[in-house]
Amino acid sequence: TVIPVILSGGSGTRLWPMSRASFPKQLWPLLSAQSLLQETALRARDVSVSAPVIVCNEEHRFLIAEQLREAGVDSPKILLEPVGRNSAPAIAAAALLVAQTDPQAVLWLMAADAAITKPEALSSAMQNAVAGAEQGLVVTFGMKPTRPETGYGYIEVGQAISGLEGVSTVKAFREKPDTEQAEFFLRSGDYLWNSGMFVFRADTLIREMEEHAPEVMTAVRAAFEARKGDLFFERLGIEEFKAAPDISIDYAIAERSSNVAVVPADLGWSDVGSWDALWDISQKDPAGNVAVGDVLIEDSKNSYVRSEKYLTAVAGVDDLVVVTTDDAVLVTHRDRAQDVKKIVDRLKKAK
Ligand code: GDD
Ligand code: MG
Repeated sequence: TVIPVILSGGSGTRLWPMSRASFPKQLWPLLSAQSLLQETALRARDVSVSAPVIVCNEEHRFLIAEQLREAGVDSPKILLEPVGRNSAPAIAAAALLVAQTDPQAVLWLMAADAAITKPEALSSAMQNAVAGAEQGLVVTFGMKPTRPETGYGYIEVGQAISGLEGVSTVKAFREKPDTEQAEFFLRSGDYLWNSGMFVFRADTLIREMEEHAPEVMTAVRAAFEARKGDLFFERLGIEEFKAAPDISIDYAIAERSSNVAVVPADLGWSDVGSWDALWDISQKDPAGNVAVGDVLIEDSKNSYVRSEKYLTAVAGVDDLVVVTTDDAVLVTHRDRAQDVKKIVDRLKKAK
């Protein structure tokens, strides 16, 4: 059995003003009529018959439970964090939950904020990954890089592992390099992007975490022991969980462990991280525009225009992102879409 574990704790700051702390990007229908979380849960259901485990913040529990119900996802287990401590503590908690009943169960860690357009490629890559995970490996998926992106992890691919189809060793894993390093990785041709999905047995993850990030495991174990469950939710112990270090699985395990393997795959994967990325993967009109909601576009090219409420019109401008919600308006150049994070940082400071 493969148990999907969906992490839905990020806040997606670069997609402001749609993405907010109280309603983060994975809960918005950004690419289709389904939210990114719903798309992820349905993707999980296409590959695995087991009910998923969702790890999310206490604050989003009803939104998430309702979205899963609406998408027809049966009996998900929902684990609640009192605060966000990044992905390592979240996945450690999910591994402890699953290990209670089946320590050798294979977990499929999924980010709630990615798009995958080739489901057949995903299911065959998953078969290879699961075979690797059953042998005790931490399996990643490697995507062919197309630009020196600094927001991703880079996987240096080693040799094919004999007896495991499509699985290779990993020479090195480098999370979020600087621009110079990223350019080097791209040129060298030996590196792949990390997709953010991982496949491993529950006991493997717990062992790796104990070895490479023992402070995470100590805090999360305590939080797990102190958990309180009701009919719908499992709540991790508040003070215990707060004591966990804030660290992602990429830094805690992928960079440190020698047990990491990679399945190179072409999944039509993209990270829905910024408005520019969203423009890139959305259906465009012949002028290269994406228009969502009550929008009018006149004599403009290659722009992303989205309205949640007000009629939003643009004329005679190119390469822009214009997003209007009921309380905010964003206008930026597509190639400056990363800077939206700076606006959110300023807003946070002003609070
Ligand atoms: N439950 C929970 N709690 N989930 C979290 C938390 C948390 O505190 N923090 C992040 N997540 C979830 C996010 O919602 C997302 O689904 C996933 O974990 C990954 O977190 P991101 O914050 O989006 O990571 P990233 O995009 O910077 O980097 C990761 O993804 C890249 C590809 O998109 C890394 O795995 C990179 O190596 C990878 O290239
Ligand atoms: Mg991300």
